[in-house]
Amino acid sequence: MKLVKTKDNSDTFFNEEYGEAYHSLTGALEEAEEKYIKPLGVKDDQIILDICFGLGYNSFAAIEHAKHLKIIALEKDKEILNNLQILNINNTYNKIIKVLAKEHHYKDGSYDLQLLFGPAQDTIKTIKEHFDIVFLDPFSPKRNPELWTVEFFKEIFIRMKPGAKLATYSCARSIRDNLKAVGFIVTDGPAVKRRGPSTMAQKPF
Ligand SMILES: C[S@@+](CC[C@H](N)C(=O)[O-])C[C@H]1O[C@@H](n2cnc3c(N)ncnc32)[C@H](O)[C@@H]1O
Repeated sequence: MKLVKTKDNSDTFFNEEYGEAYHSLTGALEEAEEKYIKPLGVKDDQIILDICFGLGYNSFAAIEHAKHLKIIALEKDKEILNNLQILNINNTYNKIIKVLAKEHHYKDGSYDLQLLFGPAQDTIKTIKEHFDIVFLDPFSPKRNPELWTVEFFKEIFIRMKPGAKLATYSCARSIRDNLKAVGFIVTDGPAVKRRGPSTMAQKPF
């Protein structure tokens, strides 16, 4: 996996299999903050579903912002955890990644982060929790179509609390139509250094 420096000086990887980078090259950590954490209003005592853990930036940014979080993260690639150990974001990140690589679960007095490995369209069906916040961050709809379907969105929807919110970077019309088809209220998210906005989807109260 090739390491790539993004414009905010944070690192990402380029994935050869998908032919895409894990983050926007305008800034990997900035993307986590601006497209996920801020618009979703991550706060203390929430339960979060992180779909496509990847380098863990979205989960990690949530941990930087709030206390007493439970995070369940879905990821199909077990090897990624070995690659992540070469990144040096800061001590907190390094400590969490080291434990996750060994146990697939990190827990301290404030955070409970569990990784479920396997295709997210299958592992999501084993989850009993109901979420306040969802990060939906697969590769593009063209390259990673199984995670942008009505069927998958239904599995997410039924595991969200009334009023809970999801964010994703894509603003593709077909994705928004699929979100609406399962009952989400869909609005524009922030545009971060690109022409189009991202997408926010709320489960009605
Ligand atoms: C764009 S990257 C995620 C970036 C990540 N959110 C971060 O902050 O670093 C997409 C991730 O989705 C994973 N992935 C692709 N298809 C998947 C599937 N069907 N189930 C679970 N994970 C999948 C890839 O292995 C990759 O780690």
